[in-house]
Amino acid sequence: MSFDVEAVRKDFPVLAREVHGHPLVFLDSAASSQKPRQVLEAERVFVEEHYANVHRGVHTLSQEATDRYEAARSTVASFIGAAQDEVVFTKNVTESVNLVAYALGNPGSPTTLGPGDEIAVTEMEHHSNLVPWQMLAERTGATLRWLGLTDEGRLDLSDLSEVVNERTRLFAFTHVSNLLGTENDLPVLVRRAKEVGALTFVDGAQAVPHQPVDVHALDVDFYGFTGHKMLAPSGVGVLWGRDLDALPPFMGGGSMIEVVQMTGTTYAKAPERFEAGTPVISQAVALAAACDYLTALGLDSVKQHEIALTQRLLDGIRALPGVSVLGPDTTEQRGSAVSFVVEGVHPHDVGQSLDDLGIAVRVGHHCAAPVCRRFGVPATARASSYVYNNEADIDALLEGIQQVQEFWSA
Ligand code: ALA
Repeated sequence: MSFDVEAVRKDFPVLAREVHGHPLVFLDSAASSQKPRQVLEAERVFVEEHYANVHRGVHTLSQEATDRYEAARSTVASFIGAAQDEVVFTKNVTESVNLVAYALGNPGSPTTLGPGDEIAVTEMEHHSNLVPWQMLAERTGATLRWLGLTDEGRLDLSDLSEVVNERTRLFAFTHVSNLLGTENDLPVLVRRAKEVGALTFVDGAQAVPHQPVDVHALDVDFYGFTGHKMLAPSGVGVLWGRDLDALPPFMGGGSMIEVVQMTGTTYAKAPERFEAGTPVISQAVALAAACDYLTALGLDSVKQHEIALTQRLLDGIRALPGVSVLGPDTTEQRGSAVSFVVEGVHPHDVGQSLDDLGIAVRVGHHCAAPVCRRFGVPATARASSYVYNNEADIDALLEGIQQVQEFWSA
């Protein structure tokens, strides 16, 4: 069955609105996606009919809430090919990264981290998959190393064996770049990490919403993603771990314990060990509804739909003099985020002028400042499409960029 984007669009109430007198063209889903009625409805019904705290009560509502919360965990786990107890609900992918980065530095860590040990990352990381590792290196005395980028915006693998070496304890990298759109060659990166016995952490924030992901097939150790980029509310993220019971806790508090005495505490098994305090409850239920929605669309179809839109956008930009793309200019191993620069116009002015036309794109360094520095630009404009975008949206953007050029050259 072909992907019926016009039917999908009807599920997203926000697409009915106008911005500055123009129909909304929303091309900022890499920052945060819009939400379909089905997800909003699932959260509303849960909160109106079943809400109470989870794992804490014998009363009916608490049990109903706990059942639905754990069912949500099961749905989310299936969505990424995982087992239920391998999935921890966090606030967002940033918290997922920080959870692992702090836990690895705590007593009982499955790996050594100190002077002489190394942590490897890449130059294309979002700050959320870079700064926590810098902080871990500072706390432990370990050294941070990184893979650079090619001019095409791919990882420069020529010194992979130098950057990821016998001293590397952990290798963290993104699945798909939020700024460049590049999809990394995970098997190559994972193989090298395994050769040297390093743990792997993958930032999947820009992958899980857009393509089928099976964490076990990827053979990584940790994988993080976030709900708000995949049709769910903000405030819920996921950490998946192959062997979370081997990881010491990050935050202490209620619900993550086994026995608490004044002299010390023993900890619950995963995933509860990593969910201290009242967790994100209704947002987790809504995330499961988002997984169901995407599963019904079919992630392969979602991917094909986005490839077609990305191809149209890349072809269109190529035909515009004075506009260039940062990152791969084909749809080969690429996501749908397209960063571009309009010669002679600051990206913030591009974004502002497009907004005047009702077109939402993100501008700035996209929380990946080293990437901008690598390409010698202060910022970019970035268009990112998703399930509800159609060809008319792409054409409106291309037309809008031309209007921006005319306006700023006048
Ligand atoms: N990580 C989000 C983005 O790339 C906020 O825009």
